[in-house]
Amino acid sequence: MFNTLEPQQPDALLAVMAAYAADTNPDKVDLGVGVYRNSAGVTPVMTAVRKAEQRLLDGQLTKAYVGAGGNRAFAAFIEELTLGVNHPARAAGRVVTLQTPGGCGGVRLAADLIHRASHGARVLVSEPTWPNHRPLVTGAGLVVDAYPYYDPATGTLGFDEMLDALARLPAGHVVLLQASCHNPTGQDLTPAQWLTLADVLERQQLLPLLDLAYQGLGDGLDADAAPVRLLAARLPEVLIAVSCSKNFGLYRERVGAVIAVARDTVQAGLVMNHLQILARRMYSMPPDHGAAIVASIAADPVLKAEWLVELEAMRVRVGTIRSGLAAALRGEFGSGRFDFIEGQRGMFSLLGLPPAAVAALASEHHVYIAGDSRINVAGLPETRIERVARAIRAVCR
Ligand code: LMR
Repeated sequence: MFNTLEPQQPDALLAVMAAYAADTNPDKVDLGVGVYRNSAGVTPVMTAVRKAEQRLLDGQLTKAYVGAGGNRAFAAFIEELTLGVNHPARAAGRVVTLQTPGGCGGVRLAADLIHRASHGARVLVSEPTWPNHRPLVTGAGLVVDAYPYYDPATGTLGFDEMLDALARLPAGHVVLLQASCHNPTGQDLTPAQWLTLADVLERQQLLPLLDLAYQGLGDGLDADAAPVRLLAARLPEVLIAVSCSKNFGLYRERVGAVIAVARDTVQAGLVMNHLQILARRMYSMPPDHGAAIVASIAADPVLKAEWLVELEAMRVRVGTIRSGLAAALRGEFGSGRFDFIEGQRGMFSLLGLPPAAVAALASEHHVYIAGDSRINVAGLPETRIERVARAIRAVCR
């Protein structure tokens, strides 16, 4: 049977990870996959996470199944973190949350739900978007199109073009939006643009599927979730995929959730019922450990305060690296060509380099970035900023 399989290209980003791992040069720099690194170049286990983990180890009495919806304390905390404590949709009982394996699991389950509930709905993603969005959505049997979003030549958002495209969509289509820290561009909508977008979504009766993967790493926990809160207050139906990979540093534990805002309590119950059935047929139940860590931090004011302080320090540091890299590139190029890096948010920016320059960065300078010339700013230790800026200058000659 297996002889019918055609060879496939490996995932491009995972291929960058592998190429970096295979490079024996001690001076190599990994700006590929999106993980936060501290000044020592290490992706740390956050202090609150380590303490919560120790408590789990000491106090957990069983490894029996948690249940179809996952950890309910985790789900309640994630709802609160995402929508805020007093969101009207929550107060009205219109919100349900299911724990998923990572934010990817959240996007995939949301797509499965859309496939089940709709007849012929298309999902539109930004151009560009995180490369795994398309496979996650098409894997659920849905058709994906794109809406214009970003001009890599100028490093700016094409908001008018985006609105034009969305304003032409028929009712019932789904718009995948990144709430903050857009991957791969780092270019977010302003609060005023989100308001305008909310008008268009409402008028056209479009369903937003919000991906919230970097909450706390842009402008702060509340500011980064503000677009989600706005749309959940304005629209009858919203889907949200949440990831704890970055803001809790729980990448390999696969901790996430799908949140659904429905028209009323009855439909919310129906959605939860379907989400659980969809999860059961795909992976049965979510893994426990990471969600239990998050729930344990949420339940302890001291651990929660420690987590908030560490997350805020990470956020501020990413901003400092952005400024440092923009300044170093200004020095190398003698121009403000890369100044956009400083104004953007979150882990990523797109350098706008051609593929040959990206390849030369790796082969000649041992600096690894994604094929679309996305750099993981949050993975760049301060001590390597000048070296990376010189390498970028060299491949642009
Ligand atoms: C990234 O974009 O680098 C991260 O979200 C990791 C991944 O799975 O692609």
